[in-house]
Amino acid sequence: MIIFKKAEGLRKWLDLQVEKRNEIGFVPTMGALHKGHLSLIEKSLENNKVTVCSIFINPTQFNDQKDFQNYPVTIEQDIYMLQKAGCDCLFLPSIEEIYPQGISEAKKIHYDLGFLEDILEGKFRPGHFQGVCLVVDRLLRIVEPGNLYLGQKDYQQCMVIKKLIELTGMKTSIVICPTLRERDGLAMSSRNLRLTESQRKNATAIFRALNDIKDNFETSDPAELKSRSVSQLESAGFSVDYVEIADAENLLPVTSADNKQVVALVAAFLGEIRLIDNMQIN
Ligand code: PAF
Repeated sequence: MIIFKKAEGLRKWLDLQVEKRNEIGFVPTMGALHKGHLSLIEKSLENNKVTVCSIFINPTQFNDQKDFQNYPVTIEQDIYMLQKAGCDCLFLPSIEEIYPQGISEAKKIHYDLGFLEDILEGKFRPGHFQGVCLVVDRLLRIVEPGNLYLGQKDYQQCMVIKKLIELTGMKTSIVICPTLRERDGLAMSSRNLRLTESQRKNATAIFRALNDIKDNFETSDPAELKSRSVSQLESAGFSVDYVEIADAENLLPVTSADNKQVVALVAAFLGEIRLIDNMQIN
């Protein structure tokens, strides 16, 4: 696996791939890789001649500085995992490489994400999606991939990046890959590394709450299901940002079981650690 720290070197290498008409698949990450990330790499390897992964803990998408400072870093292990998975290229840029104009200057760009920015993750993490767009915009302009691989665990982020690609007119296709779960149902996440042993046990309450919604959606009032889930999560020690049952297409809340495609979404804190998850309901 070839590793680049500078965009210029990476671009030169990618230009050679383009000359050879090699299709490029791209998996952007913030490191602390787990099997979920590897499933994106595998999917990209299957469908592209060349797979590029990036690891960059993006400061502009953290609305909470403590979360940024405590974000797990496991770079040596990440490189080992990527190499073993057969990834062709790793982009490992510095903050200056991604934001050469400086962070405050970069943050002057505004992406018109419409209501997506004001609901769910957007509401509870102000500025988060603008930061995601900033970094993904920059990365996509450097890598210019044919296919971009994203995890369904970040459901709203997938919608935001789709919107970003529409706004910028880039010619990248998004491939959304299913959430990978631990044996007890906990969605794989880099943040799981920060859970204590007892928090880790209680964390499965999210999966149970989502399953409860799924199992009872056809016969119950969504408002009742949501408040029952909040109680279940609180009993397991969570402080809940939201439990929402929404239209899978536009994330607007659903009020009856009539909707065709529905997704339930949860964000909640266990101590200082914020976990998110979602489940397709029908
Ligand atoms: O999902 C993530 O890990 C990040 O939000 C992303 C897409 C790599 C942008 O920093």
